[in-house]
Amino acid sequence: MKYSTIYAKALADSGAFWLDAAAALDWVTPPKTAIDSKRAPFHRWFPDGEMNTCYNAVDRHVAAGRGEQNAIIYDSPITGTAYNLTFNKLQLATARFAGMLCRYGVTKGDRVIIYMPMIPEAVIAMLGCARFGVVHSVVFGGFAAAELAKRIDDCQPGMIISASCGHEPNRIVEYKPLLDEAISLSQHKPRTCVVYQREAITAKLVEGRDVEWHAAHEGAEELAPVTVKATDPLYILYTSGTTGQPKGVVRDNGGHAVALNWSMPSIYNTQPGDVYWAASDIGWVVGHSYIVYAPLIAGCSTVLFEGKPIGTPDAGVFWRIIQDHKVKVLFTAPTAVRAIKRADPSGELLLLYNTSSLEYLFLAGERADSDTISWAHEKLGVPVVDHWWQTETGWPICANPMGIEALPIKLGSPSVAMPGFEIDILDDAGKPLGSGELGAIAVKLPLPPSCLPTIWGADEAFVEKYLTKFPGYYDSGDAGYRDADDYLYIMARTDDVINVAGHRLSTGQLEEVLADHPDVAECAVIGVADDLKGQLPLGLICLYSNCERPLEQVCAEAVELVKRRVGPVSAFNQVLVIDRLPKTRSGKVLRATMSKIADNEEWNMPATIDDPMILEEIATALQSIGYAR
Ligand code: COA
Ligand code: AMP
Repeated sequence: MKYSTIYAKALADSGAFWLDAAAALDWVTPPKTAIDSKRAPFHRWFPDGEMNTCYNAVDRHVAAGRGEQNAIIYDSPITGTAYNLTFNKLQLATARFAGMLCRYGVTKGDRVIIYMPMIPEAVIAMLGCARFGVVHSVVFGGFAAAELAKRIDDCQPGMIISASCGHEPNRIVEYKPLLDEAISLSQHKPRTCVVYQREAITAKLVEGRDVEWHAAHEGAEELAPVTVKATDPLYILYTSGTTGQPKGVVRDNGGHAVALNWSMPSIYNTQPGDVYWAASDIGWVVGHSYIVYAPLIAGCSTVLFEGKPIGTPDAGVFWRIIQDHKVKVLFTAPTAVRAIKRADPSGELLLLYNTSSLEYLFLAGERADSDTISWAHEKLGVPVVDHWWQTETGWPICANPMGIEALPIKLGSPSVAMPGFEIDILDDAGKPLGSGELGAIAVKLPLPPSCLPTIWGADEAFVEKYLTKFPGYYDSGDAGYRDADDYLYIMARTDDVINVAGHRLSTGQLEEVLADHPDVAECAVIGVADDLKGQLPLGLICLYSNCERPLEQVCAEAVELVKRRVGPVSAFNQVLVIDRLPKTRSGKVLRATMSKIADNEEWNMPATIDDPMILEEIATALQSIGYAR
């Protein structure tokens, strides 16, 4: 069947389409009802279905005779370790993990935070939680203690799973002191912390609260998967929004498994037994969906890579991994390809490896520039497929569905809408725009399976942030346009979110920290273009008039404050002191205009600007540090 037929089928009768897709999974009680819209705009997929996500990701493959197939292929060039876990071994490990949860009094529906580096135990913890009906919340290792504390307070975990350290190319990151600090900052205190001691560092354990991973598991029962409702939450994943308070995106069990299972053969063209590699981190949605759940649910082997595209040890590591593990599909962020291209522009390192197993390179997380796509295509000789998605959806909104029909690739576009996503480009008043016209990208409700049913503990915020601006639609927060062939082009965010190396950061969050510096009277953070990371944050600060300290010192302290409070992932290294911020007459800071000036893009003088002269001052200040030229 062609893409257009499948898309039209899902549009005409989405219930029948997704019930059909659901039949490919193993259910305890197969769903008879596709969607419950009684509480619209809250829609719930498969309200009468019952299942277990871990069963579908692990046990069913063992039952089908694939127990000796590799489930996880762990490759850590950074520590010089590599080994595999078969589905048999993964089943045992998740069963023991579930027994461990039970032993420490964690029960179905409780939350468990996972703050871990890229080691197999992190995946075991995620799946083990799913097996026991416990809601996991993975926090990326590059976040600082204060960010972890916010998440602890929001989801109130009974247990936290962590490790003694993570390995970055230039240093060891000690996780345990960060965890201890986070728990001292948070109001909510977890009862138990389970700590995996890695070879490089042995963490000090707090008596009565902390327990070493193996000790915690010793003698634990091996538990079978528990039955959960399709609508029960599988995980919470925090993402950046407009403010410093992260939003806890909720993912349900049933809809998530159905959509991911559909996506693997249809979008990525995989079959059970194929090797799939998403070179991301389990702390991000790409890691949740395409390192852990989707490949395993679809019976593929997934590569868990603890390293970087360059420097571990060199820009050939991706090609080495493809060769060693016979990777069929690689999924990464454009920034990773840019890093490799910069280090090895002629692709000499590629010639050292046999990458003939590779059939596709998928890119997402940020806008994929044509240079990067063309370079990768020329060097690898496989289709390079840009696709667009968000933490909120958990799977691609737009893609080129390689398993259905390889549509023509258009540079700069993540191609076309996937089934269930009915997209309109809207003007500010919510009126649909025609092809070629730039506007807000909105998706008609109800969203397809796997998309967030709500924000954790904040139904009202969910409605306000996503469903209010354009009634009847989900506001994606992205702006763009559609061409005459219905290909979408994602151009910018409509909110104050910036995208740094494929990581989503809130400028509001960085501003909240900057504003806490005693000399800072006012501030704004904008995204400025960067060749490698796509965007970098730049802090603009106005100091109190009585501040007599050296400006360099204040700037260095401001950088340090953000790194300490938000974490190294902020990539926050640049601060510029200015006299005043450009604002509208109603007091809104003109961040987007300043970004455009910094990037030397075309910009219009906002009609509502308070004092047009300020923008000239800003341009001069930006020029002094190499921007706006
Ligand atoms: N734990 C602790 N610290 C971490 C971390 C983790 N899990 N991951 C990153 N960091 C730190 C890094 O050490 C770095 O700290 P530093 O500035 O003090 O050196 C900082 O966070 C920024 O890290 P990163 O964004 O990885 O930048 P980099 O300069 O080290 O590497 C790239 C640049 C392009 C190689 C890297 O950004 C990359 O591989 N990006 C791919 C992004 C990706 O996979 N995104 C997922 C979405 S699909
Ligand atoms: P995250 O929720 O962290 O995955 O970030 C989602 C955001 O990243 C989207 O809203 C977009 O702004 C951006 N993004 C993701 N994929 C793409 C893509 N293929 N092209 C352009 N932007 C993208």
